[in-house]
Amino acid sequence: MENVKLLAPSILSADFSKLGEEIKTIENAGADIIHLDVMDGRYVPNITFGMPVIEKLRPLTDKPFDAHLMIVEPEKYIDDFAKAGVNMISFHMDATIHSHRLVERIKFHGIKAGIAVNPATPINTLEEIIHYIDYVLIMSVNPGFGGQKFIPQTLHKVRKLKNLMEETGRTDVLIEMDGGINKDNINEISKEGVNIFVAGSAVFKGNPAENVKILKERMKVFI
Ligand code: DX5
Ligand code: ZN
Repeated sequence: MENVKLLAPSILSADFSKLGEEIKTIENAGADIIHLDVMDGRYVPNITFGMPVIEKLRPLTDKPFDAHLMIVEPEKYIDDFAKAGVNMISFHMDATIHSHRLVERIKFHGIKAGIAVNPATPINTLEEIIHYIDYVLIMSVNPGFGGQKFIPQTLHKVRKLKNLMEETGRTDVLIEMDGGINKDNINEISKEGVNIFVAGSAVFKGNPAENVKILKERMKVFI
């Protein structure tokens, strides 16, 4: 799926007092997916927003909503996120006991299921679950905050994941990368084969519309 290249701005770095406007701006500029960082203050040392906010934002755009759940016991809330209208849900396997059951529940709602892996989590932890999921979110910073520096060592995990995809015949799995992606590194990351690029501060710092256009231009890879 080398040719799939999608930009997913994270509204974590948007102005929360005018989220609706911010979403409209990035949508008009060409954002492909809206990335929603849900944090509970337990899985990560930060708290953001949850279902009621997402539900209010849902009618404002047709773009897919990608919920990145950085919460413990995500299984308790899947039905609520489905009701709020999300299209993709990723969770961290160490935040739940029965990952396979959780993937099944996500898919039961017709939602794409993803597994998020922290910088220190090896790709081989995906060896079994890869058969059931739609995408993998490789964290290139430690989850919890926007505006952190890209950890360059996480880039080799893309190649490891691609090998695992080949071995398991799941070459249709999409690869999402999240954290510290900016105008200067997005092209290099894209060349490794990443499909979905999450960017928070690189989109919302300065001129969001302009930033979206530049990031989209630079994520193109000419083979
Ligand atoms: C971190 C979040 C990321 C983050 C991206 O826990 O998952 O989505 O907000 O923000 P930047 O692009 O600023 O690193
Ligand atoms: Zn995220």
